[in-house]
Amino acid sequence: MTAPFRTDDTSSATASSAGVDEETVVARAALTDDAWTALVHRLNRQSVEKHYDAYEDIDWDSPDFAVDPDDPRWAGAAEQLIGETEWWETLDESRRGRLGLHIIASRMRSGLVFENILSRGLLAHALTHPNGAPEFRYAYHEVIEESQHSLMFQEFVNRTGFDTGDFPLHVRMLAPQVVGLATRFPELFFVFVLGGEDPIDHSQREGLRNGIDHPLLERIMRIHVTEEARHLSFARHQLKRNVGELGRFKTSLLRYTAPLVLSLMADLMMGLPPHVVKEHHVPRDVVDHVRKSPEQQQRVDESLAKVRRLLSECGLISKRSARLWRRLGLAV
Ligand SMILES: [Fe+2]
Ligand SMILES: [Fe+2]
Repeated sequence: MTAPFRTDDTSSATASSAGVDEETVVARAALTDDAWTALVHRLNRQSVEKHYDAYEDIDWDSPDFAVDPDDPRWAGAAEQLIGETEWWETLDESRRGRLGLHIIASRMRSGLVFENILSRGLLAHALTHPNGAPEFRYAYHEVIEESQHSLMFQEFVNRTGFDTGDFPLHVRMLAPQVVGLATRFPELFFVFVLGGEDPIDHSQREGLRNGIDHPLLERIMRIHVTEEARHLSFARHQLKRNVGELGRFKTSLLRYTAPLVLSLMADLMMGLPPHVVKEHHVPRDVVDHVRKSPEQQQRVDESLAKVRRLLSECGLISKRSARLWRRLGLAV
């Protein structure tokens, strides 16, 4: 069965400007039942045809893949955030490499914690589908793929030897609620999914486009973006399909929680982690620089561009909720 959609396709819908009327609920370009079923079958087939194993498909012990914290090739991740500061100029190559590697390891750990929450939600979501539903099978394919990603990320983190801290307490307390959303309010669950997956996918694709200095990191990112394309397609089309069926209360709730979720996730996935600041004695003014720099703001805006467009197409950015986006410092 052939579906006329690319797995990463959100471009078929007309991008609308933010700020639809509060009462308007539109889900432009939502797939018909047949097209949705064809898409899920296709994603299922692709998950069988192209998938990766964290240990079979990465030659962890190859000398080329060795993880040396003093390797200056790791510096890029830190340089992107603080390369313009005077403090950066004072660091030798080894300290720059260690700082960059610690940021990469922390993001991978954040990524796998996110994948853990996502997988628990997907397992619960799978059971809401009856026998024969292709969505059940796809949810399991995605959980299996996320598990391989998490093994891959954790193996990398282990080889760095860095302590990667933990999510802040309020995020840890929110995790069980997010898992519960997968059955009680799946549309909000998929906003959370997109809020985590889209920024990671964007920054990994950008990294691959610009060139990644270390071959192990490049291998991990290539594997990840290949499989994430399917996950993103499933989440985007699921949201588009279902949002039109929601009542006023849930639609309104989605409009106001979406920017909160996106702001939280972008901060966790793209900021300078507090334990990195502490361990590397990053000065206060450098931390402030990252928080306020227009370049960082632009990176966050760009990373959220696809999900912002999707929410806009789904009528989930209203004139009133756009104010909340702006107050959170998000482009809208
Ligand atoms: Fe993943
Ligand atoms: Fe994923």
